[in-house]
Formats: sequence, C-alpha cells, structure tokens
Amino acid sequence: MTTIFEALRESHEIQRDLAEKLLQTSGDTAERRELFKQLKNELFAHEAAEDRYFYIPLMMTDSGLNITRHALAEHHEMDEMIEELTATELSNPGWIAIAKKLSEKVHHHLKEEEHGFFQQAGKILGEEQKTALAVQYKNEYQRYKDMKKDMLVQS
Ligand SMILES: [Fe+2]
Ligand SMILES: [Fe+2]
Repeated sequence: MTTIFEALRESHEIQRDLAEKLLQTSGDTAERRELFKQLKNELFAHEAAEDRYFYIPLMMTDSGLNITRHALAEHHEMDEMIEELTATELSNPGWIAIAKKLSEKVHHHLKEEEHGFFQQAGKILGEEQKTALAVQYKNEYQRYKDMKKDMLVQS
C-alpha cells in the first residue's frame, strides 16, 4: 500500500527535474515555454492536492499546526513567483533570475518536507490514515493535472 509520503515524493521528483531543466533554457524558446507550463501545472496540482489531503488533516492537530502554517506560506510564495514569471516576457533577461529564485525555493521546500515535516507527520497520522490520504491525494492531483492551470486562470 502506498503511503501519503511516497505519493507526495513522486511529484517532488518531477518538480526537481523540471526546475533543473528549466534553468538550462535561454530566451523565448518553445522548450522554455513547454517546461515552464509543465512545472506550473505540476506545482499547481501537487500543492492543491497536498494542501487538501496532507496539510489540512495535519492542521487539525495541535502538533501539526506550526508545520502546516509554514508549508502553506511557502506554497503561497512559490505561487507568487509563478505569477511573476507568467507576467514576465520569456525573452526578458530577468526571467531566468526569477526562475532561479523559484527553483531554489522549490528545492528548499521539498527538502524541508521530506527531511522534516514528513517525519513529524509520521508521528501524528495513523497508519490507516497514511494510506487513505494517499488515495485521496492521488485522485485530487490527477484531477488538477487534467484541468491545467492555464484553463483555470483564464476562466
Ligand atoms: Fe510537497
Ligand atoms: Fe509542499
């Protein structure tokens, strides 16, 4: 049975990979456009599903309150960087500097989750809850992946 931690890590690997690849791009190219779109959709789907099926249940416990607040604030910071990148021309020389900031934030955040929050959450959540949340998280993640962030923003 997959636990919520294993399920979350799958997307983390995709995020790291896309962020690294994005930093190798330059100028207004189809490659940069495509990688940015993929990273944006990945972060969006992961964050939405993770907020709902990992952090919200944790937030309901006294010991989970602090880590949850911290993580949600970082999700918000990453969202703001994504918005900034979306609003900046791909050909703008400053674009890659913002992308670098985002990549550093993503790496920092994932490391903190995997090496800190997951261990703390492991003591808070029950065994059945860990596998039940994995199923709910995966369904929600897939629902958002199918939706695509650009569609939501424009509607
Ligand atoms: Fe995560
Ligand atoms: Fe997260």
